[in-house]
Formats: sequence, structure tokens, C-alpha cells
Amino acid sequence: MSVLHGLEQDLGNGLLLRRSRAEDMEELAAFNQRIHSMDDDEDVRDPQPRLAAWTRDLMGGGHPRFGAEDFTVVVEQASGRIVSAACLISQTWDYEGVPFGVGRPELVGTEPAYRRRGLIRAQFEVLHQLSRSRGEWVQAITGIPYYYRQFGYEMLLNLGGERRGFAAQLPTQAQGYTVRPAQVDDLPWIADCERLGGRRGVVHCVRSPAEWRYELDGACELNVNRKVLMVLTHASGQPVGFFAHEPYVRPSNVLAATVLELMEGVSWYDALPCVLRYLLQKGNEIAAQDGKPCLGVELALGEEHPAYQVAERWLPVVKKPYAWYVRLSDLAGFLRLIAPALEVRLAQSLYAGVSGEFKVGFYRTGLHLTFEAGRLTACEAYELERWQAVDAAFPGLSFLQLLFGYRSLDELRNAFADCWTNERGRALLTALFPRKPSNVWPIS
Ligand SMILES: CC(C)(COP(=O)(O)OP(=O)(O)OC[C@H]1O[C@@H](n2cnc3c(N)ncnc32)[C@H](O)[C@@H]1OP(=O)(O)O)[C@@H](O)C(=O)NCCC(=O)NCCS
Repeated sequence: MSVLHGLEQDLGNGLLLRRSRAEDMEELAAFNQRIHSMDDDEDVRDPQPRLAAWTRDLMGGGHPRFGAEDFTVVVEQASGRIVSAACLISQTWDYEGVPFGVGRPELVGTEPAYRRRGLIRAQFEVLHQLSRSRGEWVQAITGIPYYYRQFGYEMLLNLGGERRGFAAQLPTQAQGYTVRPAQVDDLPWIADCERLGGRRGVVHCVRSPAEWRYELDGACELNVNRKVLMVLTHASGQPVGFFAHEPYVRPSNVLAATVLELMEGVSWYDALPCVLRYLLQKGNEIAAQDGKPCLGVELALGEEHPAYQVAERWLPVVKKPYAWYVRLSDLAGFLRLIAPALEVRLAQSLYAGVSGEFKVGFYRTGLHLTFEAGRLTACEAYELERWQAVDAAFPGLSFLQLLFGYRSLDELRNAFADCWTNERGRALLTALFPRKPSNVWPIS
């Protein structure tokens, strides 16, 4: 099948699959708003037209990575009405400094009367081909539980993870720092500061100057993914860090910051009270406009973050992360791509300078890795004949959890009885793949 550049695919039963066009924008905005507001989950239900606003921002020509044709739609031919849709937001992430393309399917929905007929499955085939045609190694989606496993995805990157505190628990004193809106001139150092923070995890989304500019003032007021970028300055006016907060109070009546980074050498202990006080004050302002209370603040910064250590007593409520779904169709190629990052890890490990051949098995297929003096010189996929003839074995897609730092080797061995290693396999994989949770702030 082609990636439907201007083409259409007849799905039978009077249904046509095609790429979107600029003139679909308003219908798609209304469709997405309606379909994605039906959810039972209070945190997802959205009475505001925020999803419609997001759809218009994607399709309207002002988005740095999205064009009007980047949705797929299924149309009922008789009426011309859209009954199912999905889209692909292309972006660049890095794996400990090695950039790679990612295609992010989003806004996936089908009209209730047309569900369970394979309309999303058909669109995902097109989106995966489109993503591949753009040279993207990975597809990643934030989605409902289980569903995307059916399309070759594994859940393997933290999504969310929060610490919440109520007004009476927050620091009463905040001295020495002030907060102001970020300006265009701030974006270069904000990008550096954010990239440094991203190193705490294995993967991180890399933004171009145009993508940073879009985050600052490109999205419209109501866009569900818009963030407000703020700068934290020392009393002297010198910037010391930045944060991003949501422009609305969550259904749980808290204002959340979703990114927070300080420059190197700035004390989290000194700076954090100012951020928390600001969030509470801003949350009160926003909530008052909506005629509801703001009860506290949330740092939505993933599973682990330096601010969490400092804010333990101020933000005692812990919310565990959900997960991204990730799909990787060429594992051997991806390992060859990120070899420079793996070699750095190896050089810093007890296995520095290793030479030799290793086989990692997935029961039906395997990977053949060759190392020479600490360099990964070859990595090829092969058909496995004997499941025993490997140095480590992983069922299903579980190896990807290790690759992305989501789970340690020991955690996987605890979770899966058919995950095992011999001694040299264990030594190699422990050196190559430490547990190192990421918190990705994607392009939306
Ligand atoms: C989830 C949703 C997009 C599925 O759309 P759909 O057109 O029914 O999807 P498909 O028929 O292509 O689904 C593919 C397969 O998953 C199955 N499936 C459908 N909904 C499912 C669900 N909620 N959970 C598990 N499997 C499901 C289908 O039966 C089909 O199985 P098959 O290929 O083995 O026959 C649709 O129910 C919807 O719009 N829900 C509300 C919005 C939403 O939650 N979107 C997802 C946000 S991440």
C-alpha cells in the first residue's frame, strides 16, 4: 500500500480512507472535540473546546511539524461525513545525545456506530508507512490501556507522574527570586537548560528554534496542549531557570507545572518555594475566572525529578506515572544508530573495552552483536533456531523496556519467568542498559 499521497483507499461498505485536506479542518475540529469528550475519565473529559483548538492549530498552517494532510480520515461516501480519524505528528527525540525521528500518532477516534470494523487498524497501516517514509525510527503514542499493543506497540516510557500539595502544605516564605513571562530572547538559554535536564532520562524531545517559538506563542489560547513558559530570575534580574505551567486548573482543582529546570549551580532548595508560591497564586487567579477554587499545585515532572526531593513535605501526594506506547520496527538498525551512546555507557562500566560476540534472543528471532575493544562493530537480526543458543532471552517486546531505560534487567527477570541470561549476557546487558526513567515533553 502507498502512503496515500493524494490517493484514496476503498475500504468497502461505502467507506473511503484518505489523507486530510485543508478544507477538512473545521469538520475534524468538531469531530475530535466530540469523540474525545465522551470519555468516562473525569481528567480526560473536556467541556472546553480545547481539542478543537488543538486540531485547528495542527491543521491551520502555523504548526512547525504538521501539515493539513497529516491526518488520515475515513469518510462515509454517501454523506461525505468523516467517521474515523487519526494523525501523525513528526518530531525529533534523542537517545542520550543521538537524535532520531519519531512519528507520534494522536487524536485517534471513530464514530461509535463505526467502531470495531478495523478503521483505526487500516489508518495505522498508513500512518506507519508515512512515518517510515519520513525516516522515523520510532512511533510513540499516549493512549488508552492495552489498545495499541494490537498494532505492535509496547508500553515503555513514563507518561505523567506527579507530586501534589494543597495550599496549607506549601511553603509560606519565598525570597530572593521572582517570576516573569518568558520572552523570545530567552528561548536559546531555555533550550540549553531543558536539554541538560533531559539528560536525567534516556530519551528526550529535541526542539528546533521554530519549535521553541511555537511553544512560546504559537498555539492558540484554548489549545489543550498549550503551556505558559515562565522564567525564574534572581533578585538581580539574572535568569536562573524556567518552568512551564498549564493555562487551566485541572479537574482536580490544582494548577500543574509540567516542566521545571534550573541552570547549573542554582540551588533547588532556594528556588523552589518561589515557583510553588507563584503556581498557587496563578492557580487562584485562573480558577477565580472560572468561578471555582484552586486547592493546590502539582509538579507533573515524571517519576523522578530533583524538585521532588526538595518538595517532599510540601507536595506529599504521589501520583505514579502511566506509560507511552512505543513501536520500533528495526531494532538492529536502531541499536546501530545509538551505538555511540551505548559505547559511552560501556566505557564507563565494568565491561569497558569488551570484545566478543553476543546473542540476544526473542524466541523466534534474535540479535547478533559484535564488540571490538568496546565498540559495537556489528548488530544484525537473525532467525533463531534454538532458543537455548543465546546469552539472554526476552519474551515478546519486553527487551524494549530495557532498551529505553524503563525497567532494569532484574525487574524484567522478576516480571517474566521466560526472561533469562547467562553470566556474560547479564554483565553486558547490565552495563549497556541501566534503569534511567525518561520524562518526554513531546511536540503536540
Ligand atoms: C478506541 C477507538 C479509537 C477504536 O476505534 P475502532 O475503529 O473501533 O478501532 P478498530 O476496529 O480499528 O480496532 C482494531 C482492533 O481493536 C479492537 N478494539 C476496538 N476497540 C477496542 C478497545 N477499546 N480495546 C481493545 N480492543 C479494541 C477491534 O475490535 C479491532 O480488533 P481486530 O483487528 O482484532 O478485529 C474507538 O473506540 C474510539 O474512538 N474511542 C473513543 C476515543 C478514544 O478513546 N480514542 C483513543 C484515544 S488514545
